[in-house]
Amino acid sequence: MKKRILSGMRPTGPMHIGHLLGALKNWARLQDEYESFFMVADWHALMSEYEDPREIQNNIIEMVADWIGCGLDPEKCTIFVQSRVPEHLELCMILSDITPLSWLERCPTYKEQLREMNPALARKGGVKSRNLTTYGFLGYPVLQAADILVYKADTVPVGEDQLAHLELTREITRKFNNLYKKILVEPHPLLTKTPRILGLDNRKMSKSYGNYIAFKDEPAVIKKKVGSMITDPKRIRKTDKGHHDLCNVYSYYEIFNKPLTKEARDWCANAKKGCTECKAILADSLIDYLKDIRKKREELTSDKERILKILKEGSEKARGVASETIDEVKKAAGMA
Ligand code: TRP
Repeated sequence: MKKRILSGMRPTGPMHIGHLLGALKNWARLQDEYESFFMVADWHALMSEYEDPREIQNNIIEMVADWIGCGLDPEKCTIFVQSRVPEHLELCMILSDITPLSWLERCPTYKEQLREMNPALARKGGVKSRNLTTYGFLGYPVLQAADILVYKADTVPVGEDQLAHLELTREITRKFNNLYKKILVEPHPLLTKTPRILGLDNRKMSKSYGNYIAFKDEPAVIKKKVGSMITDPKRIRKTDKGHHDLCNVYSYYEIFNKPLTKEARDWCANAKKGCTECKAILADSLIDYLKDIRKKREELTSDKERILKILKEGSEKARGVASETIDEVKKAAGMA
């Protein structure tokens, strides 16, 4: 029997090259090896977007088009929407009852988000501030635990930033199994080495910083964005010799046009080409690299019905699995 994986993303904005390298390429590979569930975490999106949730539904459609554009195949994996499987919330409720507040309050992602989203710091970082001092947001990792446990997934492909949540999930699992009955499966994170990619402004690539290249970006937009990237700050004139190791544009060459890296180093070190030209060539490489994804996602977004059907079927399938777990869990916890 194949092992089961579950992973998810929040539909809070466009998918970009950071998601491709950090997760989606990996998901597309894993779907052949594992029984795979890929979840649109819309309840988790609402936790941060509750003040203005208007974009969520459209983001769901676009995100799923992007996933499929990157190679997820609804014939091979189950793509579903969290809120269409109400069993997540039932399990979340039971897990909330057994999770000590202190486990949630000490969670590093919680503390970090509260800090980053506070008005003063958010303004400084150019991020929209949000009031995340809510009951729901404190419980973010409990719902995430329920997402995983309700499928008894043994493996969870995630980025390093999610390891704390996985550890909490494991603690909650042990507590449940000790208190009631050994039903839930302790999941393992699956970290895959992925190239680190910085955003256009050399900060971490992130939706909230607006420093990304999205799959939906038109070629002209990609050219403009790449043109705005920061290069070696010591190379002021075109005739100055540059340092590729100080240049984010060069690090993109290593990912998106590996065959040209040697030349790019030479253009820079020996001032053979200026940064503008070097960026223009990179932009073309990126446009080419993303060409197929863009084509596929465009086909799909123009056929919204097809996406809705994929999500309907996926969510029904997911629900079948989740409801079996919930039956067992409720019995064990004295609720049935
Ligand atoms: N917290 C995850 C993120 O921000 C999204 C997520 C929600 C998730 N539920 C999950 C990831 C379950 C893996 C498993 O990326």
